[in-house]
Amino acid sequence: MKVLAIESSCDETSAAVVEDGRKALSNVVSTQIEIHAKWGGVVPELASRRHLESIGPVVDEALKNARISMDDIDAIAVTYGPGLVGSLLVGLEYAKALAWAHGKPLIPVHHIAGHIHAPFLAFDDIPLPSLALVVSGGHTSLFLMKVLGEYSLLSRTRDDAAGEAYDKVAKLLGLGYPGGPIIDKLAATGRDDAVFFKMAKMSDGKPDFSFSGLKTAVLHHVRKHEIPPCASRDDVPQNVRDLLASFQKAVVDALLRRLKDAVIAHRPASVILTGGVAANSRLRSDTKVAMERMGVPLFVPPLNLTTDNAAMIGAAGTVAFHQGVRASSNLEAAPFATIGV
Ligand code: KG4
Ligand code: ZN
Repeated sequence: MKVLAIESSCDETSAAVVEDGRKALSNVVSTQIEIHAKWGGVVPELASRRHLESIGPVVDEALKNARISMDDIDAIAVTYGPGLVGSLLVGLEYAKALAWAHGKPLIPVHHIAGHIHAPFLAFDDIPLPSLALVVSGGHTSLFLMKVLGEYSLLSRTRDDAAGEAYDKVAKLLGLGYPGGPIIDKLAATGRDDAVFFKMAKMSDGKPDFSFSGLKTAVLHHVRKHEIPPCASRDDVPQNVRDLLASFQKAVVDALLRRLKDAVIAHRPASVILTGGVAANSRLRSDTKVAMERMGVPLFVPPLNLTTDNAAMIGAAGTVAFHQGVRASSNLEAAPFATIGV
């Protein structure tokens, strides 16, 4: 079965052809980073405009790279939410038009379900039940997937997502956008015990995440020590590298504490680490060590599948297709769509 998948929820226009939900025959990603970088974050109006320009060529290229035509496609999968409404609409309307014009079924896919299914494109056998830690710019959540395509939400963030904290801390220090990869690199040359950050605790005892307090603690540290924004990314002082390494340790420790507690509570057959922040080298290596110690097989997608891409939407869409999920003709973009609640 071949699915054409489309993703446009944030600042990446992407299209892919996925075979049997397991193999990406193509995965074209047109990123807008250079457009948004000078504003220090994603500007929704600019994002929708660029999606409009890119969507046609990106879909054509995905079909071309997979060496097939629309006739060979069995279904179209598209991200319907969550995300920026103007961005979502571009992919969604394009997918609707293609489905209608070519008489193909349309499958609505939740963006986070896409992230959860990304590793299924890279590994043949991921045993279930699986615990999936999804860490991205918009989400930080822990799901238990007992059966393929069924998600139960165990933890979520109460405020900022982990990736959002990376982006805001980088902006505060004048390091540019997106903050994750920049901090990842700089933190590698810093001392992670230089600054102590307290881990957030939920007053109601729920196993949720919270990163806005950490972001504020970094801001207080910067003010107290009168650290100026960096003039250049290539000349970052040691005290900033130390601060970044300590911040990164705090993020990774908070994520791993919840993950380890959930492993003990739910005894999954596997753990999935996915989403844009799963590209982080420290998170990848610390999670690997922790899961090896706990004896649970860990599945982390390769870097091109951790950040936003359409192949993961095709993988999740294929599972949904087999569950009988189809879009109604009035499918709308859902900027705040949830799953597994
Ligand atoms: O999954 P994604 O591409 O988009 C969303 O669905 O949000 O995630 C983007 C986020 C951004 O916040 C970016 O800073 C972060 O992932 N990110 C990283 C790294 N690479 C990307 N965070 C930490 N370390 C990285 N290496
Ligand atoms: Zn994402």
